[in-house]
Amino acid sequence: MQCSWKVVLLLVLASLAIQYTAIRTLSSKPATMCRVAKHTGCAPTVAASCQPSSHILILATTRSGSSFIGQLLNQHPDIFYLFEPLYHVQTTLINSSLRSRPPSAPSSPAARRLLLGAYRDLLRSLFHCHLSELETFIKPTPQQHRTQRLFRRGASKALCSPPVCPPLPPGVGGIAGGTTGGEWCVRRCGALNLTLASRVCSRRLHIAIKTVRIPELADLRPLLEDPRLNLKVVQLVRDPRGILSSRMDTFPDSFRSWNMWRNSGRRPRNLDPSHLTATCQDFLNSVSTGLARPSWLKGRYMLLRYEDLAREPEHKAREMYRFLGLDMDPSVLRWILNNTRSSGTSAKHKFGTVRDSAATAQSWRLKLSFHMVQLVQNLCNITLSQLGYRMVNSPQELTNLSLNLAQHTNLLPFL
Ligand SMILES: *[C@@H]1O[C@H](CO)[C@@H](O)[C@H](O)[C@H]1NC(C)=O
Ligand SMILES: *[C@@H]1O[C@H](CO)[C@@H](O)[C@H](O)[C@H]1NC(C)=O
Ligand SMILES: *[C@@H]1O[C@H](CO)[C@@H](O)[C@H](O)[C@H]1NC(C)=O
Ligand SMILES: *[C@@H]1O[C@H](CO)[C@@H](O)[C@H](O)[C@H]1NC(C)=O
Ligand SMILES: *[C@@H]1O[C@H](CO)[C@@H](O)[C@H](O)[C@H]1NC(C)=O
Repeated sequence: MQCSWKVVLLLVLASLAIQYTAIRTLSSKPATMCRVAKHTGCAPTVAASCQPSSHILILATTRSGSSFIGQLLNQHPDIFYLFEPLYHVQTTLINSSLRSRPPSAPSSPAARRLLLGAYRDLLRSLFHCHLSELETFIKPTPQQHRTQRLFRRGASKALCSPPVCPPLPPGVGGIAGGTTGGEWCVRRCGALNLTLASRVCSRRLHIAIKTVRIPELADLRPLLEDPRLNLKVVQLVRDPRGILSSRMDTFPDSFRSWNMWRNSGRRPRNLDPSHLTATCQDFLNSVSTGLARPSWLKGRYMLLRYEDLAREPEHKAREMYRFLGLDMDPSVLRWILNNTRSSGTSAKHKFGTVRDSAATAQSWRLKLSFHMVQLVQNLCNITLSQLGYRMVNSPQELTNLSLNLAQHTNLLPFL
């Protein structure tokens, strides 16, 4: 009897030792497996062991200009870019019958944790180019690893150009990866072969994913500490007053009472500001985490304000690329020049054009009433001051566009 007890203990200890060694070997494996020349990616023969050597996450919130910053990465030929893949997880795991609403976190803490866990698992797989992990979440379920339904596929240049998509016939123009639309990509390229897309992903040097579904920076800690990832996070924040105005325009059904307030001047009773307080709280939590400079963030976190990006797109893009340790490709510069320069000096058209990014970032000042702005300033006062956004004290200050509300800040990348 005594003897078998000892044998069992010995076996347990031995298996623990084996597991420990296995985990050590796994985690000490370098993240960089393929180091090859720019643009060429990995040679086809070693493709099986290839992976992007750096992983980039754009942490943003709905209507904060995240499509814009995503495009700055999407245009780079060494980067494989995915736009909001977590959409599929959310629609599968929580019943979101209201598609037009901005994504909201589930109310119970347990559900929130489960969802976050699922988000992180998927991100981890995608950073390793295992795009097939998406299949359990896509409806209808992909057949033979092919799907017509990848959310906003058209926003990803790699998924709309050869070899994932057949080449354009000679003489036909067209450029992949605009900030809008994307239907054309599915129409022209047909079903997406996820096996092929994964292979293309593995041969790129970097992978970038944009999401608005992770609430705050600390939620990413397990990924930032994962030794098999080399993750850098660029967090994009925006003035909550601008976020409100943009959400009202983009989701008119969910923001009906806000729009009624704007149009009638009378504040409705059933106004629900919880989406704003949640966004401001999330910003504040992230900034506090960043400012505390924990070791797991060292060299891995950059905070960017949409207003700065809109005012000086080229300068900020260069800053971001420097933080990421990548060269800025000429194609990125071309895209910036083509999409941000004011297309005319006529004041009449100034706010109608999407190309004038600086004016777009300020347009909320002519759309929201002073009372609405006051409400946001009361709800988000600490967040506004932390992020360097100046409050306005009168309707005159609100609409005087020579008054700069995004003041200079010393929010710098944490190196
Ligand atoms: C989702 O919610 C809608 C409306 O609340 C309900 O009709 C539908 O049955 C729900 N679906 C699932 C899968 O729970
Ligand atoms: C998808 O792409 C892979 C890799 O190129 C290929 O082997 C497979 O046959 C393709 N699947 C379909 C259904 O075309
Ligand atoms: C610049 O924008 C125009 C109009 O949107 C587009 O037709 C053209 O292809 C773009 N060029 C580049 C280099 O992005
Ligand atoms: C924010 O508002 C609260 C309550 O109205 C006030 O106590 C606090 O001083 C304000 N903070 C800032 C930074 O303005
Ligand atoms: C607008 O703000 C600028 C800068 O503070 C100021 O010089 C100017 O007098 C203001 N204009 C009006 C009409 O209030």
